[in-house]
Amino acid sequence: MFRISRVISTVAIILLILLDLLYFLHIWPNSKKIICDEIYFNDTLASILKPRWSGSRGHAEVANFLFEQLNSLGFLAIREELFDQRKYTNILGILNVDATRFLMLTCHYDSKFLPTAPHYVGATDGAVSCAILLNIAKTLNAYLREEFSNRDDIGLVLVFFDGHESTLAVEEDYNSLIGSRRFAQVETIPLLNIEVLITLNLIGAPNHIFLSHFMNTYGLHERLVDIETKLGKSGQLTKCHTLFHKIKDHESDIEDDHYPFLSNGVPSMHIVPHAYPEYWHTQMDNVTNLYWPAIRNMNLILAHFVYEYLQNHEELSSLVHKYSFVLPNGGP
Ligand SMILES: *[C@@H]1O[C@H](CO)[C@@H](O)[C@H](O)[C@H]1NC(C)=O
Ligand SMILES: *[C@@H]1O[C@H](CO)[C@@H](O)[C@H](O)[C@H]1NC(C)=O
Repeated sequence: MFRISRVISTVAIILLILLDLLYFLHIWPNSKKIICDEIYFNDTLASILKPRWSGSRGHAEVANFLFEQLNSLGFLAIREELFDQRKYTNILGILNVDATRFLMLTCHYDSKFLPTAPHYVGATDGAVSCAILLNIAKTLNAYLREEFSNRDDIGLVLVFFDGHESTLAVEEDYNSLIGSRRFAQVETIPLLNIEVLITLNLIGAPNHIFLSHFMNTYGLHERLVDIETKLGKSGQLTKCHTLFHKIKDHESDIEDDHYPFLSNGVPSMHIVPHAYPEYWHTQMDNVTNLYWPAIRNMNLILAHFVYEYLQNHEELSSLVHKYSFVLPNGGP
């Protein structure tokens, strides 16, 4: 009697485990164990966290660093030099250069010149976002080099824009967006071939949440929320408040490097918090004041998102509505 009940309970447990597994595979096809290397992320961030306003020595060092990292991660690395009273250099990396469509992720690597704060490093203002882009490339590197590299339906572009901040020695907060404007104008990547543009900025401060800013990419935003939920349920996230929410904040947005593309009808997402970081454009915006649980989770969520986008390309690209988006105030 005892033995029979033990056999039954063992069989029941095995069945339950199988059911769980089936359920998991059903809700998450193509699931992949993605692990971020935080040592790489920290080293990368440390290399970027220096005063790097356009024209400074730190700026040249960071540009070289980004170029070399992209190169060693297997990307076609390009320096796009442009002149607008002075020299600016966008750094970009491309995978599957002959593809007809591209997923393009961007950030800006120049820091603002603050006359009152010569050691300002803009940790949330560009640096963390740039480190996240490289970290995605690093985390997915085996997949990108092997499976992904034979694709001609979709390519991946990472762009680190220069000339985002105004170089005027004034306290005035106005964005020049010189690098991204030029990129869109000369069509370094033909705009029609950019399937989705994702711009990251101001990431790394505490208590921030991330909302959708555009109706035509809301379906992808929902995917980010779902990925965060699944990762949370399977115990892969660091304890932190929920970052992504299914909220349509479609009436407001912060001017950023996606604007020159938006005004030309490129479907865009802006991964930017609902409010400016408390220490924005002050010397306090440094590594000491970063909020690591949010950075860790952001790294993992975005790596999963990029993997899913490339791997389930047909399905995810169908979530993007390719109508021209008109800015409320007529554009930048
Ligand atoms: C990365 O840096 C943060 C902040 O300095 C630290 O808390 C974390 O432990 C570091 N991670 C690793 C793997 O060294
Ligand atoms: C960050 O900024 C605060 C305030 O300015 C300062 O006390 C701290 O030493 C800075 N940390 C680093 C690593 O620069």
